[in-house]
Amino acid sequence: MASLRLDGRTVVVTGAAQGQGAAEARMLVKAGARVIATDLPARPPAGLGVSAAPGGGLFYRRLDVGDASGWADLAAWIRSQGWRVDGLVNNAGITQRSRLLEASVADLQRVYEVNVAGSLLGIQALAPLMRSGSSIVNVGSVAGLTAHYPVAYTASKWALRGLSQVAAMELGPRGIRVNTVHPGFIETPMTAGAKPEFREATLAETPLGRTGTVEEVAGVVLFLLSPLSSFVTGAEIPVDGGQAGHGGAKSVSDALR
Ligand code: NAI
Repeated sequence: MASLRLDGRTVVVTGAAQGQGAAEARMLVKAGARVIATDLPARPPAGLGVSAAPGGGLFYRRLDVGDASGWADLAAWIRSQGWRVDGLVNNAGITQRSRLLEASVADLQRVYEVNVAGSLLGIQALAPLMRSGSSIVNVGSVAGLTAHYPVAYTASKWALRGLSQVAAMELGPRGIRVNTVHPGFIETPMTAGAKPEFREATLAETPLGRTGTVEEVAGVVLFLLSPLSSFVTGAEIPVDGGQAGHGGAKSVSDALR
């Protein structure tokens, strides 16, 4: 029977030094996967739990997702180990807070290079190492489902949705699934510096009335990588406490209570 176990599978996670990526790497290892955690620092952060184990364990490699040659090196290293790739989590992302009338082309390019090109390059580099049954998860955002005010970040996450859907269509015939998760407000280093006003306003728009944890995103990523989701591709799953689902109607509902 299909389960959430990932024994014998190799999964690459980008942006895995902290936040959601680190939580995903840890949860995937617990599910039995061999995880190749990647991020910008040369060395893995203490606490990530790097540990080689037969058929599993957690490995760390430096990777800037916007660098095509870095992806080529990673693919060559995986091949040299005699491994294939069964899963890819395009989690690395940066935020950019400039607003509509101030955002520059450079702002747009910087955020696209990581959030959009990084995911495209990952798919291009690793899909050749995947066989039927493999799974790719792209990490979008509730910003990619709404008119979130930081325009470059929001545009990049909407663009990532387009990339995901094309990838699901193009790779489906090879048995490779591609899905997207859209986190809402998750407590990570990225959101640690959020203004109290932002936090409060976001909670007011979130039916579950709280922020999310990194494990709550990692659990959905695990499901999408596992054989339990074997007929799910081209799907988008908000992990946002209901923030995107009401389409702006919550304030109306709240006003009439
Ligand atoms: P974070 O800032 O805590 O972690 C992001 C990681 O990505 C960092 O370790 C960073 O070094 C890495 N990274 C940045 N640029 C990179 C590059 N060029 N190459 C490789 N790695 C790079 O952020 P968090 O919150 O864990 O975010 C993970 C993903 O979730 C991102 O794609 C983000 O846009 C998305 N997200 C986060 C939300 C939140 O509330 N925390 C909400 C919606 C989406």
